[in-house]
Amino acid sequence: MWWLKAVAISLSVCAVLGGRDFPPEFIFGAASAAYQVEGAWNVNDKSLSIWDYFAHTYPEKIIDRSTGDVACDSYYKWKTDIELASKMGLHFYRFSISWPRLLPSGFPNYISEDGKRYYNNIINTLLEKRIQPVVTLYHFDLPQSLQDLGGWTNPLIADWFANYARVAFSLFGDRVKIWITLNEPISFCDIAYNVGTQAPGYISPGVGNYICNKNTMLAHAKAYRVYDKEFRSKQNGKVSLSNQFFWLEPDTKSDEQAAENARQLMVGMYSHPIFSKQGGWPPVIERIIAEKSKEEGFPYSRLPAFTEEEIELVKGTYDFMGFNFYTSRTVRNAKPGEEIGAWPFEGGPDINIILGVRGEWNNTDAWWLYITPDGIRKLLGWLKKEYGDIEFLITENGCASSSPDVDDEVRVQYYKEHLEQVLVSINEDKVRVTGYTAWTLMDNYEWTDGYSIKFGLHYVDFNDPNRTRTPRASAEYYASVVKSHSLDVNNKIIDEL
Ligand code: BGC
Repeated sequence: MWWLKAVAISLSVCAVLGGRDFPPEFIFGAASAAYQVEGAWNVNDKSLSIWDYFAHTYPEKIIDRSTGDVACDSYYKWKTDIELASKMGLHFYRFSISWPRLLPSGFPNYISEDGKRYYNNIINTLLEKRIQPVVTLYHFDLPQSLQDLGGWTNPLIADWFANYARVAFSLFGDRVKIWITLNEPISFCDIAYNVGTQAPGYISPGVGNYICNKNTMLAHAKAYRVYDKEFRSKQNGKVSLSNQFFWLEPDTKSDEQAAENARQLMVGMYSHPIFSKQGGWPPVIERIIAEKSKEEGFPYSRLPAFTEEEIELVKGTYDFMGFNFYTSRTVRNAKPGEEIGAWPFEGGPDINIILGVRGEWNNTDAWWLYITPDGIRKLLGWLKKEYGDIEFLITENGCASSSPDVDDEVRVQYYKEHLEQVLVSINEDKVRVTGYTAWTLMDNYEWTDGYSIKFGLHYVDFNDPNRTRTPRASAEYYASVVKSHSLDVNNKIIDEL
């Protein structure tokens, strides 16, 4: 197979970098998310999520005008999905619970029996196959009824979310030992409110995003505290959140401060309150936004402050740090008078920076995804320096293409190069990375890219009512890494695949 050659080349690279085996306790998994795979959008007592509403109401915002109404049909085909994970020998499968499927009113007054049954089936079957369930409580699909009450901009959402989390912990926590509260608040706060290409599609740049940001920190923290007080002693699990971080590097030497400010805006806004010793907003960002707000005539900062009590509530609410990594950007100071596009895609109007890419970085079919494997190592090094010697779980990493091709050479290469950098980070930089998650188990509904962009280890035929899944070369490659627990892929294992 062609990718065997690639593996052979990687062996020599690894030999130079030192060590090909992953630590014995290191775990490998793959991920999905409810709206992207489940379908069954209106089955039984499930209520509408903001993505059901967004995709139905604004088809023009989705590249192929598609919806997640059926998606991979995983509501019916969950057994097949678990079979795929099992064949690859995965240690864990990360999936998300659809809040409106479990709690159709959004509140815990009524728990859907159907929702309960569906997630219990998945969890129990995974465990039978010796695959650990890693459960995300929120992956972008808020009940629309809560959106109608302001969604992530209503401060009460912190309690709504904690109440939902309590239901999930009490129903499933006897068997689920790794919980991710929120997936990528940067997507549903910054992309949603600054750019509008995420549900709810309501744009309020520089205001809505910061209100949402604060509320996500409180929601995560309250859910964590619920776990701590009511469940931890019996269930003994771990709880954190996952954000997506680009590696951000200075365009030129004179842009170092600009790059550091951008890191604080992208990573710090969702991490400093939780993972730093001081808690609260990253001081540099808090100061800059307060100054800017004043210049703009606001009598207060557009970034809502934390009270002392809130700082204490949020600080330290983690058992590890989860993060998703896909790509990198360069950062430079904006020139005087230069127009600055929206954060986090084009620039940072509040911190006066422009984002870019280097000419030598290869692009993928997703416009935003440039391949920069060393970015994951640099990012891990920065996170360790910033937040200390904590445990890291990489909760997503993967490569986009528009081609359905199962000979996905670029994706194999992407995984190989990123895994190499993770190993270097563990061996050379002594960063405590304990697991890695491939995004994604199978092609699925890629948000505003609809079905036009694919990230799957498995190809899914969306024209086939059966949504047939076919393993790609990347699935075989990843399975061989998992089974040999090494980048030095064992030939015996390859023969068995
Ligand atoms: C999200 C996934 C998404 C992936 C690729 C992450 O932002 O968590 O839902 O499919 O990136 O775009």
